Amino acid sequence: MADAQPAKTPLVQLVPVTRQNYVQVFDLEVAPEQKQFVADTAFSLVQAAYEPNWEPRAIVAGGSVVGFLMGGIIEPGVYEISRLLVDRAYQGKGYGRAGLALFLEQLDKRPDVEIVKTSYIPGNTYAPDFYATFDFRTTDERWQDELVMARLPKRRGA
Ligand SMILES: CC(C)(COP(=O)(O)OP(=O)(O)OC[C@H]1O[C@@H](n2cnc3c(N)ncnc32)[C@H](O)[C@@H]1OP(=O)(O)O)[C@@H](O)C(=O)NCCC(=O)NCCS
Repeated sequence: MADAQPAKTPLVQLVPVTRQNYVQVFDLEVAPEQKQFVADTAFSLVQAAYEPNWEPRAIVAGGSVVGFLMGGIIEPGVYEISRLLVDRAYQGKGYGRAGLALFLEQLDKRPDVEIVKTSYIPGNTYAPDFYATFDFRTTDERWQDELVMARLPKRRGA
């Protein structure tokens, strides 16, 4: 029966990268034509090791690491989300959307986050529409060649 499952079962969990799961995170791979849009997880993990503001997270579904994202405060009140990816074998199942939704839900509760920004490479034609569904809006800002989108957190009771 369609309604036999609890309606609010989360599709994914966001898990810190640890000794137990870092190899699975390292192994995540996007499709060849998507590699231009996102750094590989190995670089992201090195960056997070040396730039401690970054908070790398594994996207876990059904006990497997299916994707990755990381984010961090880049200036007071400003939180950047970057490196969102889902392994090519797991794409199109809602994991990317669920992972980002959960991450934003967590950021909405943080008093130190006043605005969330993300950026995408101009050739990534689906990124702006994807982020727009989470209330990110285009801005005039550029980070190197990347186009920046911004979203105000949704405060409870606001
Ligand atoms: C973007 C990405 C994380 C989405 O993950 P996913 O689990 O496959 O996506 P979901 O199944 O949750 O679908 C999310 C949306 O992405 C869009 N999308 C994902 N891949 C797409 C593709 N190759 N072409 C067009 N649209 C795509 C879909 O429109 C979908 O929208 P919907 O929920 O309204 O149907 C994944 O495609 C990816 O890793 N891409 C390469 C890395 C990248 O471009 N990262 C930059 C951030 S956009």
